[in-house]
Amino acid sequence: MTVTERERLIGAPVDRIEGRDKVEGKAAYAVEWSVPNPAYAHLATATITRGTIRAVDATAARAVPGVLAVITHEDAPELADGSGELGILQSPRVAYRGQVVGIVVAESSEAAREGAELLRFDYAVEPHDVVLTSDHPTLYRPDTVSPGFETDTVVGDVEAALHAAEVKVDATYSTPAEHNNPMEPHATTAIWEEDALTVIDAIQGAFFARNEIARRFGLDPSRVRVLAHHVGGGFGSKGPPRPQAIAAIMASRHVGRPVRLALTRRQMFALTGYRTPTIQRVQLGARKDGRMTVIAHDVWEQTSTVEEFAEQTSVVTRMMYAAPIRRTTHRLARLDVPTPSWMRAPGECPGMFALESALDELAITCGLDPIELRVRNEPRVDPESGLRFSTRNLVACFREGAERFGWAERDPTPGIRRDGRWLLGTGVASSTYPARKWPSVAYARRLDDGTFLIRIGAIDIGTGARTILAQIAADTLDVPLDRIHIEIGDSDFGRAMLAGGSMGTSSWGSAVVMACRRLLLGQDEALADTEGEQEESASKHAFGAQFVEVAVNMDTGEVRIPRALGVFACGRIMNAKTARSQFIGGMTMGIGMALLEESVMDPHLGGFVNPDLAQYRVPVNADIRDVEAIWVDEVDTAVSPMGAKGIGEIGIVGTAAAVANAVHHATGVRVRDLPIRPDRLLGKLPR
Ligand code: MOS
Repeated sequence: MTVTERERLIGAPVDRIEGRDKVEGKAAYAVEWSVPNPAYAHLATATITRGTIRAVDATAARAVPGVLAVITHEDAPELADGSGELGILQSPRVAYRGQVVGIVVAESSEAAREGAELLRFDYAVEPHDVVLTSDHPTLYRPDTVSPGFETDTVVGDVEAALHAAEVKVDATYSTPAEHNNPMEPHATTAIWEEDALTVIDAIQGAFFARNEIARRFGLDPSRVRVLAHHVGGGFGSKGPPRPQAIAAIMASRHVGRPVRLALTRRQMFALTGYRTPTIQRVQLGARKDGRMTVIAHDVWEQTSTVEEFAEQTSVVTRMMYAAPIRRTTHRLARLDVPTPSWMRAPGECPGMFALESALDELAITCGLDPIELRVRNEPRVDPESGLRFSTRNLVACFREGAERFGWAERDPTPGIRRDGRWLLGTGVASSTYPARKWPSVAYARRLDDGTFLIRIGAIDIGTGARTILAQIAADTLDVPLDRIHIEIGDSDFGRAMLAGGSMGTSSWGSAVVMACRRLLLGQDEALADTEGEQEESASKHAFGAQFVEVAVNMDTGEVRIPRALGVFACGRIMNAKTARSQFIGGMTMGIGMALLEESVMDPHLGGFVNPDLAQYRVPVNADIRDVEAIWVDEVDTAVSPMGAKGIGEIGIVGTAAAVANAVHHATGVRVRDLPIRPDRLLGKLPR
């Protein structure tokens, strides 16, 4: 293979290896695997928000033809660890609406569902409290925020600096609860045998899931195998195992047969986590030239009474912009709600909505172009840690984007551009996401026919991970792509990072490179483990610049987005086709966050009242016009030997702020509460 061909492999727009299988319906998802004599389970869920089950009446459920078993807290097996969201059916307590209270197993999914709907519970109902406020009586300071960051940081005298600042912004923003809605629901096939448990799961990390399931059931991890060859999206909601996996395993043990269990779309709104709502106060102090002297970002968000989830909402403000004096804090209210969890760029995404909106407000106050304001506040080193950035090309992204988007011609005056009854405007915001990796194990073997087998416990949730890892192996071994056989999605392949935190490519790819290099050194079978590898000390993050054009209807308040451009600096791009899909997918989800997505909590009912795709609105084709993503040249070998960072999450970060900033430019109305619904604009628009 010539150097040019090799150069073309990394970064090439290679089609997904499994693409054909997917479009032909041959790729089997979690409840589609062929297993002998499967039974089907359906969950019964709580119809109260807080209280205790006094009695169960399973008569009607058991009478449904085909029903094999009913399992409730009265007869469920005791788990070795029955705490938290996965500790289902361990007590009669109900901690949130939609919690699992029963499992019905039957010969068909229809019979199981009918049985579950006929299962009757008599509840002792208690008053509930489900609404987050910034003065909630249960507010507390968690010990750390996810995944282990300091809860609060303070540098210098923030109050004095805010008082003394020449220019100030003090604004409070809010973001709603939002739910991940991957196309494949959370689903599990469990096969409990005498001495082994096999779990085919819709999961982002088979190895982590195996350990968690083993721990919950008190099994030796070597007796548990988790498989996930194809997963239909996750966005974080399939990071940890979810209650349906525990239920399917209990059911399989109970009936002595393989059991398939898929959540309904409506059940997903209670059982698979969600993005916490946030209330965020951002205070900025600056000199008249826009150089910030102080940044404070204080956050209120929620957790459940079941377990703690503390999202790292203001952590991003610790590294984003220069300012000698700074503060970030997080406070949690403990409510009678399901536990929040991961949703694409947890922390960075809602945090950057507030920070990047506040930057826009500061630019207007200073009379500065919003890109120039960001350039003036570009830090030389990571402001809080003092570490150098491994690579930081935020300004390059803005320069490239400004050129392509035609930013130079922009008149900053808000509310003056019209096209008929539409007000037009443009806005920008920064994107960023950490570039990390986690130790993973890869196995590589040279086969007799001159091809190579690569095994790694990676998961492909639709991102193209399988394809990229094959590209990385072919590149390292200097062979054509068709000589690589790649196997993923099996916890038996050893420790591997989950498909999350935008760490898949960097983590798995590093292990694949190491294993392939060992083959090149003459081994026939090579096992590589990146555990204990020396990490270069630096602040490692990906960056991006989001440009958005909006049109706001003066009569209806409807916001349209004719054009969006994202420019990203994420290290070396492994596959132009799948990378572009990740970026524009993230931006599309960001447009959903800006304009549509909102899980509505009814304070009286105590549950989310729009739990389906008719009422929980995500962008459809008609909402998305011209969305483009490009990237600047960057190679970061401090992050991975391929020079790649991660790309799965950065696309959503900053999009909502760019939209809100563009809406302000179009209308003169600053919307600080997401989503930007028509009712938040009507009555305020110029006539
Ligand atoms: Mo992502 S929220 O780390 O799966």
